[in-house]
Amino acid sequence: MKLLVCGGAGFIGSNYVRYVLNERADDSVVVLDKLTYAGNRANLADVSEDPLFEFVMGDIADATLVRDLMREVDAVVNFAAETHVDRSILFPEEFIRTDVVGTFTLLEAVRDLGVPRYLQISTDEVYGYILEGKFTEESPLDPSSPYSASKAGGDLLVLAYYRTFGVPALVTRSSNNYGPYQYPEKLIPLFITNALDDLPLPVYGDGRQVRDWLHVLDNCAAIDIVLREGAEGTVYNVGGNCELENIGVTRAILAEMGKPENLIEYVDDRPGHDIRYALEIDRIRELGWEPSTDFTEGLKDTIRWYIENEDWWRPLKDRAFREYYEKQYGER
Ligand code: NAD
Ligand code: TYD
Repeated sequence: MKLLVCGGAGFIGSNYVRYVLNERADDSVVVLDKLTYAGNRANLADVSEDPLFEFVMGDIADATLVRDLMREVDAVVNFAAETHVDRSILFPEEFIRTDVVGTFTLLEAVRDLGVPRYLQISTDEVYGYILEGKFTEESPLDPSSPYSASKAGGDLLVLAYYRTFGVPALVTRSSNNYGPYQYPEKLIPLFITNALDDLPLPVYGDGRQVRDWLHVLDNCAAIDIVLREGAEGTVYNVGGNCELENIGVTRAILAEMGKPENLIEYVDDRPGHDIRYALEIDRIRELGWEPSTDFTEGLKDTIRWYIENEDWWRPLKDRAFREYYEKQYGER
């Protein structure tokens, strides 16, 4: 199969590209990525010489470019998005442009060219939060942030293109991922890299919000099985069965790193902060998938990866990141 992987230079996308090139000997991959602050060629350094891999820098909202790239592909997997909730609160416009208009641009090309398969990587955040029980794929969408609202817009467009035009599309909605190559603005890599520098770990509000943690390689396996075996027009929840309060994750990081709890700093809560996410995953289980990484082990491996790959993350905490961080928290 020849895959076009949009957003393949980001965290999950780059792990997925590596997964496909390792696991699927007959597949080739073209990555289309705009290389925003979150996109990084270094994420794909180890596959860059592979003859079955090609990189194209560009925007999913560029209709001419995406049509050119789609002419001979068997499937499109769309990871490309603006992804950080806090940034969406500060600068929402780019989220609408990429997550909604970019997705629309891809769908139009898929429809016109008759591309045989399209998989949209969506998120559990489109459901909003749930205090008890779990979201099924039939739960109504009720997003809270500009990020989750823009992702819901893209997600619903995909389902509408299936229903209206018969575009052969599927959607995964996964819970919070963690693992190697995650940009150090998200909770786990931010806290690991701050702890390495003995900087404060800013816990929002009371830290009692719950996220369901999924190792990125488990998500890659789920994405791959849905791409190849999922039913068209269908949404698949992908959860880790691992609900933890943020403060619990924070303490686990500090304990594993041998750092003191007085690095924890409670800061103002995120506006519109979702209290709890939880997913029912029976549908994807029927495809033979289960999350298989134990969180304690996965976290240990992730911490080790950040310790061993300081050359990767240190430049990312550079001027652009600091500017954003200081805008949010003030100078330190
Ligand atoms: P990321 O921010 O690490 O990477 C996003 C990638 O998309 C980057 O390489 C960036 O350069 C690229 N990109 C952004 N705008 C683009 C555009 N207009 N055209 C082309 N490329 C563009 O994100 P991630 O954490 O890897 O998330 C990937 C996908 O998975 C996203 O769609 C996200 O909503 C979804 N998701 C993420 C999580 C998570 O925990 N990280 C959970 C559920 C769903
Ligand atoms: P994040 O990694 O931004 O993912 P999402 O908002 O998409 O779930 O945040 C995970 C949780 O951690 C979320 O409840 C917000 C919280 N959080 C903090 O408490 N402090 C931080 O500095 C960050 C980035 C997140």
